Amino acid sequence: MSSHQPDLPSRYLLYQLAVQAPREDAALFARWFRRATGRPLQILREDFCGTAAIACAFVAGGRGEQGGKRRAIGVDHDAPTLAWGAQHNQSQLPASARSRVQLHCQDVHAIRTPKSDLIVALNFSYCVFHERTELLHYLRHCRSALRPGGAVLLDVFGGGLAHRPFSERINHGAFVHVWEQRSFDPITHRVDCRIHFEARGTRMENAFVYDWRMWTVPELVDLLGEAGFKTTEVLWHDAERGAFRRKTRAPSDPHWLAYVTGRR
Ligand SMILES: C[S@@+](CC[C@H](N)C(=O)[O-])C[C@H]1O[C@@H](n2cnc3c(N)ncnc32)[C@H](O)[C@@H]1O
Repeated sequence: MSSHQPDLPSRYLLYQLAVQAPREDAALFARWFRRATGRPLQILREDFCGTAAIACAFVAGGRGEQGGKRRAIGVDHDAPTLAWGAQHNQSQLPASARSRVQLHCQDVHAIRTPKSDLIVALNFSYCVFHERTELLHYLRHCRSALRPGGAVLLDVFGGGLAHRPFSERINHGAFVHVWEQRSFDPITHRVDCRIHFEARGTRMENAFVYDWRMWTVPELVDLLGEAGFKTTEVLWHDAERGAFRRKTRAPSDPHWLAYVTGRR
C-alpha cells in the first residue's frame, strides 16, 4: 500500500466519520443535563472542539421553542482545524442555527464568557494535561466559566488492553481507520496514540498523533472535587446495550469507556 496521499478525503472528514457521532452525543448530553439538573441544556461549550461537530449538532438538534434557544461555543487553538469546521459544519447549518454557534480560535483557558450550562472536553482531549496541577487548573477554569448549577463532562478510557501497545483496524466500508496505541508507560501513564486512515489503496499515516496522560476515573473524580464541583457522577458505557448508565461500581473490562461529570 502506498503512503502518499493523492486523492484521499480530508483527514478531518475521515476523523468525524470514524470516531465521532455528533448528533447522538449532543442528544445524550442534553438528556443527561436535563436529568441531572432538571432544566434544559441551553448553552453547550465544546472545549478542544476540533471541527466543532458536536457544537454544531447541538444547535441543529432540539425541538420547538427550546431547540431554537440552544447556543454553542467551540474552542480550539488550531486555526486550520477550526476553519475546516466553520466551513464544513457551521456553514452547513440553517442561518438561524449558524448564528447561535460561536467559534473561538484560542487556548481553552482564554474563554470565560458567556457562561455555559455544560462544558464538554471529548475524545480525551484534556489528556494533553500531563501534570495534576495543570488538569486541576483547567477544571477550576471550567467551573468559573459555568452558570450556577452547570456541569463539566469528560470522557475517559482504560482497562488492561489500554495498558499495552496495540493496534485496531476498524472497517468503515469506504475506508479503514486504524487506532494505534504505540506505547504506554505504567509509571507516568503517558500514552502515544495515533490514528491512521486507509482508503483507495493509500495509507494516511499519522493522520492524528496524541501525546496524552491516561487519567483514571478516581483521579478525575478527586480532581473535580478539589476544583469545587459538588457532585460527581460516572456514566459507564454498557457495550451490550450501546448506552451509558450511571454507575458507582463496574466490572473489570479489558477496554472500557466512561464519562465523568462534575456539577458545580
Ligand atoms: C483529540 S482532538 C479532539 C477533537 C474533538 N473534541 C473530538 O471530540 O473529536 C484535540 C483537539 O484539542 C485541541 N487542543 C489541544 N490543546 C488545546 C488547548 N490548550 N486549547 C485549545 N485547543 C486545544 C487540538 O487542536 C485538537 O483539535
